[in-house]
Amino acid sequence: MFLVTPVLRGIQNLFVFTWDFGLVLVNIITPNRKVGHVTPEGAPGAGGKWPEYVPPKEGDSRCSCPALNAMANHGILPHDGKNIKFTELSEKIRATYNFAPSFCFFVPNFSANMLKRNYKKDTFDLADLDLHNGIEHDASLTREDSALVPDQGKPHLPFVRELLASASGKDKDGNALLTAKDLSEYSAKRRVDAKATNPDFTLDLPHKMFGSSNSSTMLTIFGGRIDDIESILVDERIPDGWESRIRKRMGLTFASFNLTVFKVERGIDEKKYKAKLAAEAAAPPAP
Ligand code: HEM
Repeated sequence: MFLVTPVLRGIQNLFVFTWDFGLVLVNIITPNRKVGHVTPEGAPGAGGKWPEYVPPKEGDSRCSCPALNAMANHGILPHDGKNIKFTELSEKIRATYNFAPSFCFFVPNFSANMLKRNYKKDTFDLADLDLHNGIEHDASLTREDSALVPDQGKPHLPFVRELLASASGKDKDGNALLTAKDLSEYSAKRRVDAKATNPDFTLDLPHKMFGSSNSSTMLTIFGGRIDDIESILVDERIPDGWESRIRKRMGLTFASFNLTVFKVERGIDEKKYKAKLAAEAAAPPAP
């Protein structure tokens, strides 16, 4: 089995990325979904009407992912966050956020493998996704490192506030927008600060890429809109009237998403942030 499994996974990945490429082509030749019609008819949130938001109660399972917690808070996933089928997760993130079917299969399937469970048959609780250095990693933008705060189910609001305040863009109506540069700069700060405060700190290249992938959803699915991102990150709530900013018929493919992910990751400059800290430390105190 120890050789068969990696070979089968390699074939499966090749299939998923070929499928993803096919979806890119379909997106090119088909018209976008109309504004107000991105969430499919009959799915929760169609027409911007999201099921009632109920914050988690004692004993409910939540995780380090604000987007999945928000789905549980609205009852799109079970409100207690428990016994969720991986296949149900695939189906529901497709309808809720308009990621492409390739992504909606790949990430839950990756999670099932990570937890040594069967994608087709098994279930998980949201908190299971917090397996450290599975997908969850150090230097997150919305959570303290798990060595410092083992419960990853709640946002660390000082980080979230700092991230939101760093938004430097504006749309044509004057709404605050988070940019790729803002995300890169805040990620650099978190990586340097987390390394300095967490004696167990680790962050290898795959987990850096997971970090930039997670954060890039704020620029793509949420279009960088601070009003919407604030609701998702602070209350883990989908705003009334919201729909995914991705209007492509087949949703956000890996091929398209990765353009943003690589831009964010490439822009992360820890040395620049360290130089800024050093300059601040060397500056004479204000009179
Ligand atoms: C497909 C199933 C998904 C799984 C298994 C998953 C899992 C995770 C995990 C484990 C984290 C924590 C990573 C860390 O340590 O920072 C995370 C963070 C995050 N995820 Fe998800 N996620 C999924 C889908 C989504 C979707 C669809 C969105 C957006 C629409 C999203 C947006 C985010 C954001 C914004 C973060 C926070 C990043 C940070 O704090 O640095 N995720 N996700």
